[in-house]
Amino acid sequence: MKLNIALLAGDGIGPEVIDQAVKVSNAIASKFNHEINWTPALTGAAAIDAVGEPYPDETHEICANADAVLFGAIGHPRFDNDPSAKVRPEQGLLKMRKKLGLFANVRPTFTFPSLIDKSPLKRERIEGTDLIILRELTGGVYFGVRGRKDNGNTAFDTMTYSRSEIQRLAKKGFEMAMKRGKKLCCVDKANVLEASRLWRETVQAMEKDYPEVEVSYEFVDAVAMRLVQWPKEYDVMITANLFGDILTDEASVISGSMGLMPSSSLGEKTKLYEPIHGSYPQAAGKDIANPLATVLSAAMLFEDFNLTEEAETIRSVVNKSLAEGIVTEDLADGGKAYKTSEVGDWLAQNL
Ligand code: IPM
Ligand code: MN
Repeated sequence: MKLNIALLAGDGIGPEVIDQAVKVSNAIASKFNHEINWTPALTGAAAIDAVGEPYPDETHEICANADAVLFGAIGHPRFDNDPSAKVRPEQGLLKMRKKLGLFANVRPTFTFPSLIDKSPLKRERIEGTDLIILRELTGGVYFGVRGRKDNGNTAFDTMTYSRSEIQRLAKKGFEMAMKRGKKLCCVDKANVLEASRLWRETVQAMEKDYPEVEVSYEFVDAVAMRLVQWPKEYDVMITANLFGDILTDEASVISGSMGLMPSSSLGEKTKLYEPIHGSYPQAAGKDIANPLATVLSAAMLFEDFNLTEEAETIRSVVNKSLAEGIVTEDLADGGKAYKTSEVGDWLAQNL
């Protein structure tokens, strides 16, 4: 197969972790006889510095014309404590999601056999967890009307959802559930929010089209508690943008490290793959960040192009590296800590 992939390394540890995913993907491509063309493009603070814009038109063109986008991370501390900054790296990420129509963010949570005891949660609670949080990504409070009034003394953000936005996400959720454990949980705050009541109404109306799927409705506050208590109860969860952002960080605790969790973002055309962690500026340039979330995001990419064996090969070499202790310092636990690039080399050589 021939794949054209846009490569958006971004900020902080982005370039370092992306390098390892490219190494591993290229090794897979040569093993299975595929051809990957990588086209690098600017995004985030790096793009602001170069052209004054975190998601330049030229980058969008490259992404829109690619089969898929592999994305590192964006964000830079010099913007975080400056509420007056007019352009922020994160705006680039949001603009990219919106312009590429990436409305469904797939964030799986699973455990790694050799890391179960690294989680602060008890083994018997988490062992065997296999759930997907399907987060709505181009609507809700992230994109609603916002502003200030009363001479700047009052601020507001609004959560708006249309029936069709909910339907297209829920459809993906039902379809995923059909291929997995046939359970779908709609996570909302329908006891308070009107937008959530529309979510419930919409999903309820779709139930009849998927009679095999067992559907439940839970409030997001209760899910925040139950997710870490009884993660094995869940299969596919669908939820609004902000709720999904929060719950997926929480869910990463189940796996043992934020540095392990991959994601894909799906929509109308181009698919995008990125680790759920951020740009981790404290580690940037030190060759210490965990590259596995990005490597596993590349595995999700291969899977979505029906290259299942390729994806499986990546996942099993990742498991092998964890079992053999070829890990970065976040997982070293007093043992030898390997560099980001050493982990990438090891994975590429051991496929
Ligand atoms: C994520 C991130 C982003 C989000 C930030 C960086 C804007 O936290 O991808 O989860 O909130 O969506
Ligand atoms: Mn987040």
